[in-house]
Order: sequence, then structure tokens, then C-alpha cells
Amino acid sequence: MYKLFLFAVIIVLVISGHGLAKLDKRGASLKPLSACCDIPELGDEKHLATCSNPKPAGPCEDVKCIFEKHGFLTDQSTLNREKYTAHLRSWLHSHPGNWTAAIDKVVEDCVNKDIRQYLDKPCKAYDVFVCTSIAFVKKCPDEMWKC
Ligand SMILES: *[C@@H]1O[C@H](CO)[C@@H](O)[C@H](O)[C@H]1NC(C)=O
Repeated sequence: MYKLFLFAVIIVLVISGHGLAKLDKRGASLKPLSACCDIPELGDEKHLATCSNPKPAGPCEDVKCIFEKHGFLTDQSTLNREKYTAHLRSWLHSHPGNWTAAIDKVVEDCVNKDIRQYLDKPCKAYDVFVCTSIAFVKKCPDEMWKC
């Protein structure tokens, strides 16, 4: 019985030691900073599902599909500013973290300005989405910063 107890204690120590070792390894890194900010999913489940079956490949097409399904584009190259902003503001209330400042920055940097990311071909959805991700990282709430 005592041996069994000792065995259990050793197992627990090994497992928790392993967990600690993992934490220690998380040192400085040059992985894109977006990996550090735990941004919740911005899209609506039903539109994501539509665009996953089949899922278009590449950096433009899948984002474009999701933007189109949400009605964020009035045409291929024009953002529906009101709709995109309204989506983010209502999204805020149903997700963890205080993203108020991040969304204000999105409106300032990505909605009110006609930003380009210079993908190989023009892709408005990609331009806006990448800008949005950067604004979210810049204004990542402390409680969502994981690095
Ligand atoms: C969220 O952040 C904004 C701006 O950073 C701040 O004004 C507001 O008080 C915060 N809200 C909560 C609920 O913490």
C-alpha cells in the first residue's frame, strides 16, 4: 500500500515537473507577435462553416469568402464600413477580454483609412483583416497577452 502511494507521488511529481519544464522553455522568440495575443474568433460560426466546405486556399480567398458571407464588402474592392464596425462592436460584448481600445484602433487604422497590404493581387478583405489583426495585437488587453 505504501509502495503504491509512493508510486503515485512520483507520477504526480514527474507530470508537474514536466509542466514546469514546458513553461521554462517559453523564452524570447521572434515568432510573429500575433501568436502572443489570444484573439478570439472574429467570424460568425455559420459563415465560417459555409466557407470551410470547401475551404478556398491561400491568404486571400478564404478571408474574402468569410467577409462576403458577413456582408462586409459592398463589392470586390470596397469595405462596408458601417457593417464591419457594427459587427466588431457587437462581437465585443460576447467575447472574453476588453477589446474596446483594439476596436477603436481598427476603426481608426483599417476602416477610416484605405489601407493596403500589397498581397500579390488586390484583395480588400485580406487588406482589412491583416490590418485588423495588427490593431488587435497593438491593443491586446493585458489579460489576453500570453507571452
Ligand atoms: C475597457 O477599456 C476601455 C478603454 O481601454 C476603458 O475605457 C473601459 O473602462 C474598459 N472597460 C472595462 C469593463 O474594463
